[in-house]
Formats: sequence, C-alpha cells, structure tokens
Amino acid sequence: MNTKLIQKLQDINAKKKTVLLRLDFNVPIINGKLTDASRIERTIPTIDFLLSQGAKIIILSHFGRPKGTFKSNLSLEKLIKFIEPIFNKNLIFLPNFDVDKIKSEIERNPFPSLFLLENTRFLKGEEENDIALSKELASLGDFFCNDAFSASHRAHASTEGISRFLPSCAGFLIQEELIALSEVLEKPNRPIAAIVGGSKISTKLNVLNNLIQKVDFLIIGGAMANTMLHARGTKIGNSLIEPEMTDIAKNLTIQAKSTNCNIILPNDIVCAKFLKENVPYSTYESDSCPEEMMILDVGVKTQRYIKDIIDKCQTLIWNGPLGAFEIKPFDRSTIEIAKHVANNTKEGKLRSVAGGGDTVSALKIASVENDLSYISTAGGAFLEWLEGKKLPGIESIKK
Ligand code: 3PG
Repeated sequence: MNTKLIQKLQDINAKKKTVLLRLDFNVPIINGKLTDASRIERTIPTIDFLLSQGAKIIILSHFGRPKGTFKSNLSLEKLIKFIEPIFNKNLIFLPNFDVDKIKSEIERNPFPSLFLLENTRFLKGEEENDIALSKELASLGDFFCNDAFSASHRAHASTEGISRFLPSCAGFLIQEELIALSEVLEKPNRPIAAIVGGSKISTKLNVLNNLIQKVDFLIIGGAMANTMLHARGTKIGNSLIEPEMTDIAKNLTIQAKSTNCNIILPNDIVCAKFLKENVPYSTYESDSCPEEMMILDVGVKTQRYIKDIIDKCQTLIWNGPLGAFEIKPFDRSTIEIAKHVANNTKEGKLRSVAGGGDTVSALKIASVENDLSYISTAGGAFLEWLEGKKLPGIESIKK
C-alpha cells in the first residue's frame, strides 16, 4: 500500500487538541507478569509526539475478548502499572463509560495529559461497530489517531466506526508497519521466499493462496506440511493432519505450478510416538514415517535445503514455526533457520519480515528477535495482510 494515501499524524496540528488514540494493549500477561511489552513500547514515539505538541490523549484499547460485559480480570486498570513506567508518564484512568463524567474529567485536567479509557470491549456495540457508540466515542475528542495496526483487521467502533465522525490519521507505528509490510509483499527484491508454518491449512488457506501468486518459494512447515505430504500420497503415520483438506492441498500444488511458485515440503522428518518434552525420537526420510509415530519437526537435510533457498533469496516473509517448537527438542529446525535468517539479514543479503505471536516467540527462543529487518506487532492483522485483504482500520484513515 502506498503510504501517501494515508493521513499521517505528523501532518496534523495537535496543539491544545484532544486526541482519541487507538492502541493495542492486548498484551500477554502470564502469572501476573507482562511477558512481551513490545506493543506498548513501540507506541512511545506517537505518545511522545502528541504530548510534545501539548495534546490531551485519550487512549482506547481492548484487552482480551470480554464480549460486551465487564470482566475484572480484563480491566485495563491492571495494566497501568506496566504502561506508566514504559511511557514514563502518569495515566489518568477513566473507569466507567459515562460520557458526561469523562468529558468533565478531561476538561478538569491541563494540556498535555494522558488518559486511559477502560477496555473498549466492555462496551456493547464495540465489536458490532455500532454507529451510536462510534459517535459517542468521537464526541470525546477533536481527532482520531489509529496506532493499533494489530487491531486494524477488526471493523469495530474504536478502530473503524469512530473515524466516520472525526478527522482521522495514522500513528507512527502503523506507518512503520505499512511501509515494512508493503515493501516485502508489493515490490520485493526477488527471489522472495515465504515460510508459513502452523498446525492447520484451513486457517491459513487464504494466506497460502495469496502467497502462491507472489513468492518464488513457499516453504510450508508445522502440521500443515503433514497434510500436504498426505495429499501427495505419502504415508505420515500417526501425524496430525486435516483429512478434509486433502483436495485443497492437492489444488495448492497445482496452482503453485501455474504461478511458478516452488512449494517446499520436508524431505526428512523428525518423529516421535508422543508430543512430549524430551521423548525418544528418530529422523526418517519424509516418505518413511512409521505407523505409530508422528512428524514433529523437519530434519537436518531439510534445514540445509531451506538454508540454501534462503541464501538464494533477497526477501523473506515468515509466519509460523517449522516444527512443534514449543516442545523440546522439536524446536531445533525453527531455531536453526531463525539464526540463519538473522545472519543473512545482518550481512545485508536478506530483507526479512516476520509476524505472528508464535513466530515472534520462536525468534526470541533463538535470541534473534532484534536481528530481522522487521518484526510486526500483529498476529491476526498480519495474516489478513498476507491474505491480501484490505484492513478496515487502515482503509478508514485514508485521505
Ligand atoms: C491481537 O492480539 O491479534 C489483536 O489484539 C486482536 O485481538 P482479537 O483477535 O481478539 O481481535
């Protein structure tokens, strides 16, 4: 997408203005700890820019999927202790969606100030993109800034509806995401490869269909590769597959031929009887998975083959691990390939872009999360982008 089409934050005068800023604070909290702060950290430039202009900022965000009702464990109040030190600013929390009270609270505070509205998904009408709610939200400020790329695939009141009632623009994180993702998907330096892993073809079918039109090599990993092997008549033992996707998998192979896209499947496989930490395992040729075993990773031969392909390529898009990476030792190929991608990127030979929660976790396990050209903050939105879909939260901030 040409970012010239987007209304940008830097072109808007926010001086003494109240800005509704959509961020994505849907962050992972495990045992009370914030395990990945990047969605918060990467919005600092937008927050700092607006505060330096003297604006009042009302942050809108969802957290989890409360479905229109209050759920105390999903209150954004719980995140304040993580957010304040990252922004190095105090937040004024707006707990109840009482428009008059919110307006007087905003009025009472000086320019600049930073407010945080309670979880937008506690509001009925948010996910329905209700017009009345969108209008009420819009009535709180002078303009709307979307900096939640990772929520922009949702046509919700706080991501899309609100922009029908206010001048709207893109924050710095969205601009960065659009530039990085457009570069690799729309005008990449070729050859270009994509690694798509994960368990189900059914959930990534549109991604595969779109990438087949765009990339020279489509490396398929995870249990999705099992279904592809099964569709080619290969015995896959007790491996996880989607039998109902067999015909679709065959079709993908036919389609790929017509677009000159090479689909890369494992040629050696790491198998075990169970998916459990440190179970006994062996490596086989990809057509020799024993009856009682399941494919849990790709072998060293396949890793070498994938590395050779990456060496030939100038661009790589990555979504999803190659094996069952969350259970050791089936994380090996993902880690090995992650390190190779990072090396080629550092040497300036490869432009690499990755996205999706599992992919980012895998890059962290491989300690290369800072070594790719770009890591998207998005999961679902990254996938929809790879599908070639228009994202409602982006469409609505076009000029
Ligand atoms: C995400 O975590 O991908 C975004 O915050 C969107 O969340 P959702 O899938 O619940 O809409």
